[in-house]
Amino acid sequence: MARRRKIYEGKAKVLFEGPEPGTLVQYFKDDATAFNNEKRGVVTGKGVLNNRISEYLMTRLAEVGIPTHFVRRLNMREQLVREVEIIPVEVVVRNIAAGSFSKRFKMDEGAPLPRSIVEYYYKSDDLGDPLVTEEHITAFSWAAPPELDDILALSLRINDFLSGLFLGVGLRLVDFKLEYGRLYADDQVRIVLADEITPDGCRLWDIETNEKMDKDRFRRDLGNVAEAYQEVARRLGILPEAGPRDLKGPAMMQ
Ligand code: TMP
Repeated sequence: MARRRKIYEGKAKVLFEGPEPGTLVQYFKDDATAFNNEKRGVVTGKGVLNNRISEYLMTRLAEVGIPTHFVRRLNMREQLVREVEIIPVEVVVRNIAAGSFSKRFKMDEGAPLPRSIVEYYYKSDDLGDPLVTEEHITAFSWAAPPELDDILALSLRINDFLSGLFLGVGLRLVDFKLEYGRLYADDQVRIVLADEITPDGCRLWDIETNEKMDKDRFRRDLGNVAEAYQEVARRLGILPEAGPRDLKGPAMMQ
């Protein structure tokens, strides 16, 4: 780690200069934060699990035609990604009421939504990531209208694919957050999925018990945070010791 130039350090990841121009190394830390850094902790082993889980999900998404920044996993905590210009918008897709949505609309957590709902939040720690509309995004040039069209279409496709994938391993994809970037390549610019997809930025509930298997265990002090992430990885079939016979839920999808 020491030999590389650090480009950016976030709450749960560090980005280092990559081995070739146009690449970065994304390092997953064990640090956990919630409520815009008000609550902090360390979840031992989380970085290793998130590196694996994001690798797996980004690879599956690429196979169905979703462009992503992911290139390949390098080791336990690092992956090689393409350098992109991050669009400063967090895209949240919700299938079931939970979290801030339940608070805002006074809806019980677990209430199904009439259809999937996409929300945008402006990435700004100072402002506390406020909810914004398409108007804000295009007026402030965070993304151009055609870019936002791509972002919406990709997010809905990702939701459909991941909802099915998780259902296949006994998990309900309640909601999740995505980030996108501009990839400059061959005199072209295109929107690609960036950042990570892990239980840090998803709500995943066990299909039978509704047990939370995501960062809400940390946010709400429910305990067994790393164990829940490990169970997600195990069900996805990406822990070395996991095999079909270990799975108690529906058959794993690979
Ligand atoms: P919320 O209900 O708190 O708005 O969160 C919706 C989803 O987005 C949830 O799966 C967690 C994820 N999320 C992040 O990844 N980062 C954030 O900063 C926030 C607020 C939520």
